[in-house]
Amino acid sequence: MAGVNIAIIGAGVVGSELISQLTSLKGYIEYNVVILAESKHVLRSEDYSPLNMSSWKQNLAASSKPPMSPAQIADFMKKSPLPAILVDNTSNQTIANSYPIFIKAGISVATPNKKAFSSDIKLWNSIFDYAGKPGYGLCYHESSVGAGLPLISPLKEMILTGDEVLKIEGIFSGTLSYIFNEFSAVKPSNTKFSDVVKIAKQKGYTEPDPRDDLNGLDVARKVTILARISGLPVESATSFPVQSLIPKELESVSSGDEFLQRLPEFDDQMESLKAEAAKEGKVLRFIGTVDVPSKKTSVKILKYDFSHPFASLKGSDNVISIKTKRYPNPLIIQGAGAGAAVTAMGVLGDVIKIAQRIAH
Ligand SMILES: NC(=O)c1ccc[n+]([C@@H]2O[C@H](COP(=O)([O-])OP(=O)(O)OC[C@H]3O[C@@H](n4cnc5c(N)ncnc54)[C@H](OP(=O)(O)O)[C@@H]3O)[C@@H](O)[C@H]2O)c1
Repeated sequence: MAGVNIAIIGAGVVGSELISQLTSLKGYIEYNVVILAESKHVLRSEDYSPLNMSSWKQNLAASSKPPMSPAQIADFMKKSPLPAILVDNTSNQTIANSYPIFIKAGISVATPNKKAFSSDIKLWNSIFDYAGKPGYGLCYHESSVGAGLPLISPLKEMILTGDEVLKIEGIFSGTLSYIFNEFSAVKPSNTKFSDVVKIAKQKGYTEPDPRDDLNGLDVARKVTILARISGLPVESATSFPVQSLIPKELESVSSGDEFLQRLPEFDDQMESLKAEAAKEGKVLRFIGTVDVPSKKTSVKILKYDFSHPFASLKGSDNVISIKTKRYPNPLIIQGAGAGAAVTAMGVLGDVIKIAQRIAH
């Protein structure tokens, strides 16, 4: 039967939702899941017959098979009688580093993992010098920026068909979107920066240590990806200016809790920035920018007029503005940029696109 064989690595928040959406497709694409792996457990079909996905959770937890390395997974999938897809639902760097092995073996990759696309440019080149060329696997990563928002595929299509990106700017972190939308709203408030960070943590919006959101690196990784797609060969996510929201004095405190306890000591700095912006009729937002003509990328706090689309953002939405030769009035894409349902949707969309191209 025509179709594809799929190896799924990672069955956490996104991975388990992906499995749920995939198994509800009801025959839209023909597929077998032949590997399902977490770091300590793996399910593997011996003869490429489909795994039983109705009881995957129990079977995976009960499996005593030793974990497989990326090279072992690539070796197994390479011999698949049907075209093969690797779905990487981890944030693991080692797995990301091995995408070139998969792609060169003709195995396509679908992933929300940013690591392969935002680390050293050599890794990017060793993926995209091959991906999609005859005999090699495809590589789709819609959910690596803005989760399932239609961003990377449309952007690549715009460029492929001859459009030129001039500027991309946006709010790429749901956590920092929430923090700035609450802290610096059009309607004046006395909300303290440290209080908003604490509430964001209580609501489960931040990483366990909020410094992992406030250091700007996650946004820098997304900016790196969009810059590279737009034609700027950005060396890595740490090769351009990134404003950290962590006060210098708190960079080395030992725990996230101590950081949160001491953050109020630094509220005055953020307060004066907010007051200065409000005087000009503006709000503060944490923005990633790709400026193609000047070949510059940055991540920093910027001020926006009350009437700007970024100023009226609510909750933890992402918003991305894309200015191109064909869209001199920027295209605005806005919506949830995190969460299991929308992230898995982006990954599954990639799997479907790949299956439609490679299944025979
Ligand atoms: N959650 C979101 O809203 C969101 C939004 C956009 C993008 N993403 C991206 O989606 C990816 C997954 O996020 P998540 O929230 O689902 O993370 P998660 O809940 O922590 O799940 C990660 C999964 O990967 C597995 N894993 C980790 N290292 C592994 C390894 N070396 N070999 C095999 N399995 C491994 C984990 O298994 P163990 O538990 O056994 O280690 C777990 O099943 C990340 O790249 C993230 O950045 C997530």
